Amino acid sequence: MKCTSLRVIDIRSFSDRTLKPSPSLTLLTGPNGCGKTNLVEALYYASSGKSFRTSNDGEIIRLGQDEGTILVDFMTGRTVQTIKIRLARNQGKKIFLNDTAVRKKELVGLFRTVLFTPDELQLIKGAPQLRRRFMDMEISQVSPRYYEEFLRCSRAVQQRNGALKNAQLTGKKPDLDIWDMQIAASASYLVRKRLETIEQMNGIVPSMEENLTGHRESLQIRYVQQGSDSPRYDVEWYMDQLSRRREEDARFCHTSIGPHRDDLQFLMNGMDIASYGSQGQQRTAILSMKLAEMEFIRSETGEYPVLLLDDIGSELDRSRREALISFLKAQDIQTVVTGTEKMFDTEGLVVELEDGKR
Ligand SMILES: Nc1ncnc2c1ncn2[C@@H]1O[C@H](COP(=O)(O)OP(=O)(O)OP(=O)(O)O)[C@@H](O)[C@H]1O
Ligand SMILES: [Mg+2]
Repeated sequence: MKCTSLRVIDIRSFSDRTLKPSPSLTLLTGPNGCGKTNLVEALYYASSGKSFRTSNDGEIIRLGQDEGTILVDFMTGRTVQTIKIRLARNQGKKIFLNDTAVRKKELVGLFRTVLFTPDELQLIKGAPQLRRRFMDMEISQVSPRYYEEFLRCSRAVQQRNGALKNAQLTGKKPDLDIWDMQIAASASYLVRKRLETIEQMNGIVPSMEENLTGHRESLQIRYVQQGSDSPRYDVEWYMDQLSRRREEDARFCHTSIGPHRDDLQFLMNGMDIASYGSQGQQRTAILSMKLAEMEFIRSETGEYPVLLLDDIGSELDRSRREALISFLKAQDIQTVVTGTEKMFDTEGLVVELEDGKR
């Protein structure tokens, strides 16, 4: 998959700007605040329907404007398609594929990207929610059914929590059967898919680690399931767990079991890298993970996604950067990377953004 054009109109600092990325490597460069991340954000937005910097769409629209538009042309095989996202202040967004309106859930998986930013370090150190999002985004990009089931499960959990809250207010017994059934059915599917994906990723991660460091570290992902030491994904188990936990859940108005409570652990030589890994090992581990995600998406869809690397110069030393770039070149992976200096000695396209408004 290749992006052939990005156009942003009244998005962040840009009034109207077009970027035609190279099919291989594009380096966005220029001083701090010149809009490098803004362009990466726009590409990510066209891929996922949301930003990685804010959950408030209004922030993305250029100050003083009521509307902003992101247009991405991308090629799958020989077909060029256009995604258009129109953001209106306080009015939500409209998404179009080749001028036909589509819903957000239909957007995910069309223009596939993998993002790596310094914040991504939080994937190891940060809250479990970030690791779940990593997994959910990865699988959603290759499986529309997964994304649908993910939304269904999240809604059912919200409804169940709402019913519990209501019951607390009214003093009546909540009717949870319907929500328990929905959660159990979705959870069973989601967790099975997650486990399958992790198994596949575990087959890929070590060779990515080798690509980057020259030696294989035994990096493995482990699924940590709430309620069981060895992951279960049968509907009956979830029904049983949900019903057993009703009393406790009622007290806290939450749902203490389900995919929204599970986590991932990254193990290096069997030890949790969050507690035992050095900073450098953690960085490399995340990058290996991201590259494994690229391979996973390729094996599922036949094409590599577009790789977005924001500000990784500060994260990786020279030898790792070079190893990374040579890998990306060998695999013909389209990459958009930002940096303030020319940190990648390659024949890629260099786009110099100037300070100030355009
Ligand atoms: N909604 C908006 N409207 C107008 N300008 C905005 C908006 N949001 C952000 N900006 C401007 O965009 C600029 C930041 O752009 P961006 O984060 O892409 O910079 P950058 O080139 O990645 O910088 P760095 O090298 O520091 O990472 C700032 O100057 C900010 O004022
Ligand atoms: Mg930036």
